[in-house]
Amino acid sequence: MVKNVGIVGVTGAVGQEMLACLEKRNFPVDELRVMASARSAGKKVAFRGKELTIIEATTSSFGGLDIVLMAVEADQSKEFSPAAVMAGAVVVDNSSAFRMDPEVPLVVPEVNPETAKVRPKGIIANPNCSTIIMNVPVWPLHKAKTAKRVIVSTYQAASGAGKPAMEELENTTKAWAKGEPIKTAVFPYQLCMNLFSHNSGIGPDGYNSEETKMTLETRKIFGAPDMMIAATCVRVPVLRAHCEAITVEFEKPITPDEAREILSSAPGVKILDDRKANRSPQPLDATGLDEVFVGRIREDVSLPGRGLMLFVAGDQILKGAALNAVQIAELL
Ligand SMILES: NC(=O)c1ccc[n+]([C@@H]2O[C@H](COP(=O)([O-])OP(=O)(O)OC[C@H]3O[C@@H](n4cnc5c(N)ncnc54)[C@H](OP(=O)(O)O)[C@@H]3O)[C@@H](O)[C@H]2O)c1
Repeated sequence: MVKNVGIVGVTGAVGQEMLACLEKRNFPVDELRVMASARSAGKKVAFRGKELTIIEATTSSFGGLDIVLMAVEADQSKEFSPAAVMAGAVVVDNSSAFRMDPEVPLVVPEVNPETAKVRPKGIIANPNCSTIIMNVPVWPLHKAKTAKRVIVSTYQAASGAGKPAMEELENTTKAWAKGEPIKTAVFPYQLCMNLFSHNSGIGPDGYNSEETKMTLETRKIFGAPDMMIAATCVRVPVLRAHCEAITVEFEKPITPDEAREILSSAPGVKILDDRKANRSPQPLDATGLDEVFVGRIREDVSLPGRGLMLFVAGDQILKGAALNAVQIAELL
C-alpha cells in the first residue's frame, strides 16, 4: 500500500541515506515530506527525479503522514516523535530516545521483526549502529548454539557522529597533509592519525554510553536479559563503516566450519574470509553496501569447542541506521 512518508533530519548523514534507500528499494511512497532544522528550510533534495523542498520540522509538521522516519538527535526526537504519533503516523526513530522504553519495540528485521507489530506508543526504535552490526551475524549463531557471553571491541568510523564529524576528519586529514595545525570542534580529540575511546560520556561503572547501549540493547533485541555482554568502543580515523572484533562463548559445542555454514545462509550476512590471502572485512568493503561482512571466523583458543572469534564490517549509516529503518518501514 502506498504511504505518505516523512523524513526528519533529511540533510544529515542518516537522513540522506534514508532518502536514497526509499528510492533504491522502490518503497511505495505517495507524498514524501522532507524536514530538517530552520537552517535548511527552503533547500532542495532530489527524490525519484523530482526536487523536494525541505521544510522546518515543528510539532505541527506531521498531519497526513503514515510513517515518519526520524533522523535527529534524541532531544529533538523526544519533541517530534510524540507529535507525529498524535498526528496519526507511526514513527521509526533512529535516536536513543526510546530504545530502552519497554513500550517501544527495538527492531532489527533479521532478528525480531515480529516485535514491530506491538507498539503501544506508536514508535519503533532503531537500535544503535554498533549494536545492529553485531546483532546481524551473532543472532543466527545464537539461535543455533545459544550464546552465553559476548566480548566485543569496536573500530568506529567518524560518520557515526554525523555529517559534521565526517567533514572534520576530512578537513583535519587535509590540514595534517599540509603540515598545518589541527583544530577540532566536533570530536574532543584529533582523530586523524589517531584513535580514542568512544566520545560518549563515561558512566560510574567505567563504561561509555556506546558500550552500555551494545549490552542493554542486544539483550532486549535477542530477548535474552541474562546474556553476558561487555564492549569496548573506540573511534578510529575511518570515514564510513564500523568494524568489530567479536568473541562469543556458546552453551552448545561449535566449530568454525559450523559457524561458516550457519553464516553462509544468514540474512544480511556476507562472508569475506580468505585465510590464504589474509583478506578479511575492511570498512571499504562494507561502504555503501547493505550486508554485514564477516571474516576471521576462528576458534577462540582459550575456549576450545565452545568459543568463536569473528571480525566484522558494516556500513553503519546504512545497515546501522537508514537501511534498518527503511526495512522496519517495509514491515509496516
Ligand atoms: N551517523 C550514524 O552512523 C548513525 C547511526 C545510527 C544512529 N544515528 C542517529 O541518527 C540520528 C541522526 O544522526 P546523523 O548522524 O544523521 O546526524 P547529522 O548528520 O548531524 O544530522 C542531523 C540532522 O538533524 C537535523 N536537525 C538538527 N536540529 C534540528 C531541529 N531542531 N529540527 C529538525 N531537524 C534538526 C539536521 O538538520 P540541519 O541540516 O538543518 O541542521 C540534520 O538533518 C541521531 O540520533 C544519531 O544518533 C546515527
